[in-house]
Amino acid sequence: MMPQEQSPARVQWGGSALLAPVPPVLVTCCADGRVNVLTVGWTGICATHPPMTYISLRPSRFSYGIIRETGVFAVNLPTTGLVRAVDFCGVRSGRDTDKLAACGLHAVQPGGLAVPVLEESPVSLICRVQQVIPLGSHEMFLAEIEATSVDGRYVDSKGKLNLQQSGLLAYAHGEYFALGRKCGEFGFSVRKSSAKKKKRGVPG
Ligand SMILES: Cc1cc2nc3c(=O)[nH]c(=O)nc-3n(C[C@H](O)[C@H](O)[C@H](O)COP(=O)(O)O)c2cc1C
Repeated sequence: MMPQEQSPARVQWGGSALLAPVPPVLVTCCADGRVNVLTVGWTGICATHPPMTYISLRPSRFSYGIIRETGVFAVNLPTTGLVRAVDFCGVRSGRDTDKLAACGLHAVQPGGLAVPVLEESPVSLICRVQQVIPLGSHEMFLAEIEATSVDGRYVDSKGKLNLQQSGLLAYAHGEYFALGRKCGEFGFSVRKSSAKKKKRGVPG
């Protein structure tokens, strides 16, 4: 089908940062034994092998200097139970506030991890900065994920990660959301056996 040049039902704007939803992650960093945490929405995975991620920070953030200096940070996935902390850590600075104490968060550093992670987070990615790319308002910290720290409650007896019960949090256009109901899974659209499975009574 050819796209129409004019569509009265669609409005065209200039470039914008309207990608949503994103995970509003809690990023931990540490300098001189003091842990800080800030909220970051501009993040994502950019390679699987090696596992690579990025966070984009404004240079004005207190955490920016710490991560520049130490070259390490942890991305802690947020849950709905952490939504107040997620917001607070995104509107208060570690320059003048101990955000962990204020939010009742606990930093732990098990097994020689390079940087502390949040005990309250189900999954934490320990990241080592590879490149810092200036982009204008933000600088992108491109980093390799060198370790993963997982809350054992979400790992089943076969070692499989099961995050459905953790209540992961999403952020879209200034608002926080709990993830909704599952409506598919990777590859289901082309899996031939799915109809057969349904007939056989396999839960959908
Ligand atoms: C939902 C949300 C997402 C945010 N995303 C980013 C981001 O991607 N990059 C950034 O530099 N600041 C972001 N911020 C703002 C910082 O978290 C905020 O300025 C924080 O106070 C910085 O803390 P610090 O000074 O202790 O480093 C976000 C704030 C919120 C509430």
